Amino acid sequence: MNVIIAESYEDGARKAADLIEKIVRENPACTLGLATGSSPVGMYQELARRCKEEGLDFSQVHSVNLDEYVGLEGTHDQSYRYFMNTNLFDHINIDKANTYVAKGVGDVEANLKEFNEVLDRTDIDIQVLGVGPDGHLGFNEPGDTLYDGAHEETLEDSTIEANKRFFASKEDVPTHALTMGMGNIMRAKRLLMIISGNKQEAATKLLMEDKIDPHCPCTFMRMHRDATVVIEKKLAQEIGYIH
Ligand code: GLP
Repeated sequence: MNVIIAESYEDGARKAADLIEKIVRENPACTLGLATGSSPVGMYQELARRCKEEGLDFSQVHSVNLDEYVGLEGTHDQSYRYFMNTNLFDHINIDKANTYVAKGVGDVEANLKEFNEVLDRTDIDIQVLGVGPDGHLGFNEPGDTLYDGAHEETLEDSTIEANKRFFASKEDVPTHALTMGMGNIMRAKRLLMIISGNKQEAATKLLMEDKIDPHCPCTFMRMHRDATVVIEKKLAQEIGYIH
C-alpha cells in the first residue's frame, strides 16, 4: 500500500485530487468510483477548481457511487445522489447522465438488481473511499462474513451515531443502505482512501497491523495491488505510524 502523509486536510485533498487528475488526463473517458462523507469533500472542491481554472475535463468521464441510503429520494438533502450533485457534479462539466448512484426508494430488489448490473458492466479505474469509525467501507459493516456484490445492509448503531450529525435527529437517519460489496470495491483497478477525522481505530488496524479482518472491512485494502491511502500527519502520529 502506498501511504501519503498530508500536512492538513486541504493538503490531503490536493494530493488525492492529483491522483484523480492523472487518471482523467491519461484517460478522459475513465470511470471514477466515488464516495460520500466529509473525507472526500475537499478533494471534490479541488477537482471542481481544477475543472474551472485549469481545464480539467470531465465531459467524457463516467462515475458510479459506492452506496445510497434506503428510503431517501435523490432530492433529499441527505441522500448520496444529492450529496454528489451538490459537492461535485454541479461544479464540473460531467454529463449527469453518465453518473450512477443507486436508487434509494422504490423496489429495493429491483434497485439492487440494477446496481449489480451497472457494476457488472463497469470497470472502475479508481475507487475513492472514506472509512467509517468502525472500519466500514461504503456501507460494508463489520461482520463474520462480507459480501462480494451490491447488497442491502442494516446499519450498525455506531454508523447511525456517526452519521446523525447530518440529520435533524438520530431517528431521522435511515437504518438501511444499498452498498457495493467488498468484491466490487476490490475489483477496481486502483483504490484511493482518504482517512480524516476520528478514525484512530480503523487507521491502526489498516496501517499498523497485518491482519485482514472482516470485523474491520478497510483492512481488505491491504490485499489490493494498487491502493493508496492519504492520511493526515496528526492522525498518522497519533497511531504511531510516523513520529
Ligand atoms: C458513511 C459512508 C462511507 C464513509 C463514511 C465516513 O458511512 N457510507 O462511505 O466512508 O460515512 O464518512 P466521513 O468521511 O464523513 O467520516
